[in-house]
Amino acid sequence: MNYDINHLTFEEKLRLLTGKDFWQTYDANGKLDSVFMSDGPNGLRKCDGEHTEESIAMPCISALANSWSEETVFTDSATIADECAEKGVDILLAPGVNIKRTPLCGRNFEYFSEDPYLSGILAKAYIRGLQENGVGACIKHFCCNNREYDREFISSEADERTLREIYVRPFEIALEAEPWLVMCSYNPVNGIYASENKKILKDLLRKRLGFSGVIVSDWGAVHNSYKALKATLDLRMAFDERAYGELKTAYERGLITDAEINFSADNLLRLLEKVQNAKKERRKVRFSVAERRERALSVARESIVLLKNEGALPLDPRKSVYVAGGFSSDPPYGGGGSSKVRTTFKSEPLARLICERTGAKTGFRQHFSDDGMFAEKCLLESAAAADRVVLCVGEDERKNREGADRITLRLSEVQENAIKMVGKVNKNVTVVVYAGGAIDMSPWIHSVNAVVYAGFCGETVNLAVADILTGKVCPSGKLAETFPLSIADTVAYPYEPNGYYDRYEDGIFVGYRRYDRDGKEVLFPFGYGLSYANFVYSDLVVRKAGETSFTLSFDVENLSSVSGKEVVQVYVKDIVSSVSRPEKELKGFVKKLIEAGKKERITIRLEADAFAFYSAALDEWYVENGDYEIQIGSSSRDIRLKARVKIELPLESQYTVEKADLREIGSET
Ligand code: GLC
Repeated sequence: MNYDINHLTFEEKLRLLTGKDFWQTYDANGKLDSVFMSDGPNGLRKCDGEHTEESIAMPCISALANSWSEETVFTDSATIADECAEKGVDILLAPGVNIKRTPLCGRNFEYFSEDPYLSGILAKAYIRGLQENGVGACIKHFCCNNREYDREFISSEADERTLREIYVRPFEIALEAEPWLVMCSYNPVNGIYASENKKILKDLLRKRLGFSGVIVSDWGAVHNSYKALKATLDLRMAFDERAYGELKTAYERGLITDAEINFSADNLLRLLEKVQNAKKERRKVRFSVAERRERALSVARESIVLLKNEGALPLDPRKSVYVAGGFSSDPPYGGGGSSKVRTTFKSEPLARLICERTGAKTGFRQHFSDDGMFAEKCLLESAAAADRVVLCVGEDERKNREGADRITLRLSEVQENAIKMVGKVNKNVTVVVYAGGAIDMSPWIHSVNAVVYAGFCGETVNLAVADILTGKVCPSGKLAETFPLSIADTVAYPYEPNGYYDRYEDGIFVGYRRYDRDGKEVLFPFGYGLSYANFVYSDLVVRKAGETSFTLSFDVENLSSVSGKEVVQVYVKDIVSSVSRPEKELKGFVKKLIEAGKKERITIRLEADAFAFYSAALDEWYVENGDYEIQIGSSSRDIRLKARVKIELPLESQYTVEKADLREIGSET
């Protein structure tokens, strides 16, 4: 189906540049079909007015990222696409790829990682899972929306290299999946609102990165319609009665041109065509609700992270288990705000799920919740009487939500006290943590034997937790963000906003890049996660495949009697560089099932982008000659194999070379 812009009147073209209502595009008096958009990244939130339809609450993107699996991410978004198909939603306003600069950001549960490469690769899989199933993706929030505090006013101030290497990089990688829309963020970037920021929308996103789809505003993020249009923002959402008049007046004053209006109107007509074609060719309902829930469970199983295990897990079926904590029967499945899914699904309480899987004698009492009462005497007596204890703690949407940041990384005092007290009366305690981001466990982690990080893993979370606690599933998740030892070690502290701008003085040193540079100990490093299996790496062979291409191959052997999946990570270090560079940067990863007692040979290819940095001097990605160290690890701080490679590009391509080199190309010295 083709839409011809010449069939639209001038007024219809102007009106097309603003939504028809909260969720739909303008239909030009019936000449066009409207496109229906809905949130969100953690499952479908389809609402019209007061009513929100019930949907499957999938694992949140922060939990999904802990799977380190493109296949799992694809399954996740394809499942949401199926629900969109059933409910007539054309565009899902997802994924969010904002970098976790501070672990306190209230919306981190909606984002992938502190690392741009991991965020970009997983976002690409997420976009494919939607669009290959006929639903458009809208990657967001472009850009530098890295905290919630006063997000509509405080300017994120970042230099060009920091923007390109860290905050824009996930979008650049994800654009390879050709998302139909990009949503701009609320905040100003270097002093100008993202919605009217020509530098980031027209010059960077469109011209440098080649985005040719629709740029849509975050809801209410446009402050001036004609300035947004000149920055090539195509669609102002949601409907705003002032928009048409603003644009008409601007046109009459010669502030905007026919070419600018037609450019954006045409982008919207192309979007309508993509939606119509997708509806016809790829969009159909494939799964029942039960099948979608099974898929949500398969995703959750891949996304849970085993952080500590000193002889506690898997639970011994011959031993009695006492389960305590409100989240064991009513776990948080997501955070608050626009991404919040409405679900009425409740799994059985965790105690019963454990008993169903192993036959173990189990008991359960709520005793305490996130910040509720703490029935101390009863809890301690029951905990002392049982062979094993499982404590369910964490945070819910009250501390992980859009519009507000967290003020601490620690659990509530009630929960911390409960953990420490139970640890005194029972020597076999497992803590299950439900949260939307990093938690500072340092006050209590030494009092317990095991910690399982469930994150916000959707409505089936406790089914997946029970599978992992009982050994039905071998844990394979790895942290996609660092868990710092203290908030004082992070960029967030002390966060004293001056009310106008947030200067990104940390530059490219975000997350593990920061802790490595500062030599900081952390509670759990980026990429960390334990297994019930035991993997050893060996026999690394590196082959040069081109000037900046290398093929790495190495063995991973599972020495245990438990089959499990391992996430192998490849980091690159520039040994000597002309600019400051991180100690290491993630440039490749693979998640692989390795059967008990077996060995697999893994091959990973590195290309130029594995060695490049963004040169502010050249305004380009630049690979500098010299030695690089390849580090292959089970986490960013558990490097198992190393090798050095040399990049030797023609000197003409190099800058700031030694005088000795100049002689080689016949220059006068
Ligand atoms: C919200 C969010 C954005 C969401 C949109 C529509 O304010 O910032 O992520 O998609 O508005 O609900």
